[in-house]
Amino acid sequence: YAIIGYSEILLEDAQDLGYEDFVHDLDNIHTSGKHLLTIINDILDLSKIEAGKMDVHWESFDIMALIENVLATIQPLIEENGNTLEIICEDNQEPIVADPNKMRQVILNLLSNAAKFTENGKIILKFKVVNNDENFISQNGNCNSTDKMLVLSVADTGIGISEEKIDSLFQPFTQADNSTTRKYGGTGLGLAISRHFCKMMGGDIAVVSEVNKGSIFTVKFPVLETGFIN
Ligand SMILES: Nc1ncnc2c1ncn2[C@@H]1O[C@H](COP(=O)(O)OP(=O)(O)OP(=O)(O)O)[C@@H](O)[C@H]1O
Ligand SMILES: [Mg+2]
Repeated sequence: YAIIGYSEILLEDAQDLGYEDFVHDLDNIHTSGKHLLTIINDILDLSKIEAGKMDVHWESFDIMALIENVLATIQPLIEENGNTLEIICEDNQEPIVADPNKMRQVILNLLSNAAKFTENGKIILKFKVVNNDENFISQNGNCNSTDKMLVLSVADTGIGISEEKIDSLFQPFTQADNSTTRKYGGTGLGLAISRHFCKMMGGDIAVVSEVNKGSIFTVKFPVLETGFIN
């Protein structure tokens, strides 16, 4: 954190003082620092999951507020490749009970993938709370929440994923092909962690995709409506 913080301070100083040569290098330190931190956090998350020490924290929260928070983080990444993002939220949004941090991380992973693997295209984030007709069950606090489920999807018009590769995407450290790392970076942990998080919340994540057309990742997990709690 200190590396990121100090390089940011120096970067601002260098900008103010007009030290153009330094700005570029400091920007690189700052960006690499942030990148490294993401990788470390992902590896720590995965180790924690594998050690069985990752807990689920149920909380009541407003989905739309969470989505807006995610968008503030992800918007620059979406614009970087000339993409546009559309949000479709169906029906009136009651607060739900789920794990907001895990949900946030799953959505961030999916949107960052969509942004990374799509150029001058369109990304659509869609979500709704519907009847739990797939019988997802989660041990949600003291209640079994079997009533409603959240269905959230991220669709893109990007490079897509071939049929042979699609089954292995959720394995840790797996990317669609070896050129992916060189061209797009990343470590191949995002989807593995996202699937674990969805399963811990009693749900799952699935994908349909067509090469050169795009991909749709769909997340489902049971939610408790807060009205239920008391
Ligand atoms: N929206 C998408 N379009 C095309 N390919 C995708 C998409 N999302 C994921 N993939 C493929 O699945 C692989 C695994 O995705 P995952 O998010 O786990 O890893 P990553 O994005 O490469 O790295 P990380 O998330 O750790 O930074 C990607 O490397 C890519 O090949
Ligand atoms: Mg990813």
